Amino acid sequence: MSFALGVVGAGQFAGSFAKLFKAHPGVSRVTATDLLPERAERLVRDLGLDGVEPDFDAMLASDVDAVMMFTQRWTHGPLVVRALRAGKHVYSAVPMAISREEIGAIIEAVEETGLTYMMGETSYYNPITVLARRKLAEGAFGRVFYAEGDYVHDMDHGFYDAYAYSGGEDWKRTASYPPLLYPTHAIGGVLGAWDAHAVSVSAIGIPDTRRDGVFDRTVSMFDNDFSNATALFEMAGGGSMRTNEFRRVGLARGVPESRFVFYGTEAILEQNSGGTFWHAKSPLEDLSEQVRPGKGGATDESVLAGVAPELLDSFVSGHAPVHDISDLPESFAGLPNGHEGSHHLLVHEFVTAVEQQRLPAVNAWVAARYTLPGIVAHESARRGGERLAVDDFGNPPG
Ligand SMILES: NC(=O)c1ccc[n+]([C@@H]2O[C@H](COP(=O)([O-])OP(=O)(O)OC[C@H]3O[C@@H](n4cnc5c(N)ncnc54)[C@H](O)[C@@H]3O)[C@@H](O)[C@H]2O)c1
Repeated sequence: MSFALGVVGAGQFAGSFAKLFKAHPGVSRVTATDLLPERAERLVRDLGLDGVEPDFDAMLASDVDAVMMFTQRWTHGPLVVRALRAGKHVYSAVPMAISREEIGAIIEAVEETGLTYMMGETSYYNPITVLARRKLAEGAFGRVFYAEGDYVHDMDHGFYDAYAYSGGEDWKRTASYPPLLYPTHAIGGVLGAWDAHAVSVSAIGIPDTRRDGVFDRTVSMFDNDFSNATALFEMAGGGSMRTNEFRRVGLARGVPESRFVFYGTEAILEQNSGGTFWHAKSPLEDLSEQVRPGKGGATDESVLAGVAPELLDSFVSGHAPVHDISDLPESFAGLPNGHEGSHHLLVHEFVTAVEQQRLPAVNAWVAARYTLPGIVAHESARRGGERLAVDDFGNPPG
C-alpha cells in the first residue's frame, strides 16, 4: 500500500521533509501548496514533486490521503483540524497548537475520524533522548525524579532572517513569538524518555531589553515582550522538570540548542556543551561519542533554498551511533537528514504508522503533553509566576 501526500506550507523547513516523503516507498505522490504560489512552484520544480494545488482548500479537495503541515508555528491548530475533518492523515510540524482549545479540537478530531495524527517532534529522536529512553527501559536510572530540557536558540543565530522570510513586511509582529509557546523541543526531549507528564507550573518571563521592535508589546501580535523564560513543572507521580526557552543568549555556534539532563536515584545522564556523561555512583563515564550526530548525508541545495545560512548546520546533521536505523528504507541512503539525525526517523515513523494503522510515537495525546505545559507556563509567566494547574488529555484510548 502507498499513499499520496500534500505539502501545506512550502517555506524554509518543508523541503527537507518533502524530499524524504517523496523518496519513501510508502508514498506514491507528493503535491504542494502555499499562500505564496511561487514557493510551492519552486519546491515542486526543485524536488521533482508531482504538482501544485492553488490553495489549502484545493489541497483538501484533492485526492491526497495525508498532508504535512509546515505553515508558521502559530497556525497549525485550526488547519490540522480542517485537514482531519476533510479525511486526511496529518503530519504536523511543531508545535501542535497554541491554546488548550486548539489541542482539544485536534484530539477530538483524531478520536472521531480515526485518522493518524503525528507531531514531528525532532527531539523525540534527539540522540540524548534516545539514549535516556533506552536507559530508562533498562531501569538503569532507578527512579527518575528530576529532568531538565532546554531549547536555547539565540535570535542572532539565524532567526532574524528566518522570521523576515516567514513574516513578510510585518515580520517583527511575528518574531516576538513567545518562547514558551515553542516548548516541544525541550519538554518533548524529556518526556520522549521519561514516562511522566506535568500537572502544575510556575514560570518566570524575562522582558527583552534590546529595543529593536522585536519582543515589543506595542508591535507584537502576541502581546509579548519575553525573549527568555524559565518554567518549573511538578510532574504526575512526583518529581520535577525545569525548562529554559531562551532567545537572547550567548550560546556558542555548533553546540546543541536542545539539551537535556535526567536525574535518577541510581544514575544521572548529563548533557552539556562539552559532552554527555553518565554517573552511576561509579567513575564518570563519557558517552559523548554514542550521541554525536554524524554527517547528514549529501548536503542538497534543493531542499535548503530558503534556509538562513546560520541555520544550515541543524538542517544537515546525520545519525548518531545510538540511533537504530535498521528499519529505514534503502532509498533514504545519502539523502539529507537534520536536527541530530531525526528527519529520516520521523518520516519513516509517520509513513509506517499510516500503513499499519497504528498510533505513531508522538500521537495527539503525547503531543498534547509536550505542548500544553508550555502554553500554561507562558500564562503563568504573564501572571508573574503564579502556579497554575496543567490539564492532561490522558493516554490514547485502547
Ligand atoms: N526542529 C524542528 O522541528 C523545526 C525546525 C524549523 C521549523 N519547524 C517548524 O516548521 C514549520 C515551518 O517552518 P518554516 O521555517 O518553514 O516556516 P516558513 O514561514 O518559512 O514557511 C511557512 C510557509 O507556510 C505558508 N503558509 C502559511 N499559511 C498557509 C496556508 N493556510 N496554506 C498554505 N500555505 C500557508 C507560508 O506562506 C510560508 O511559505 C513551523 O511550524 C516551525 O515551527 C520545526
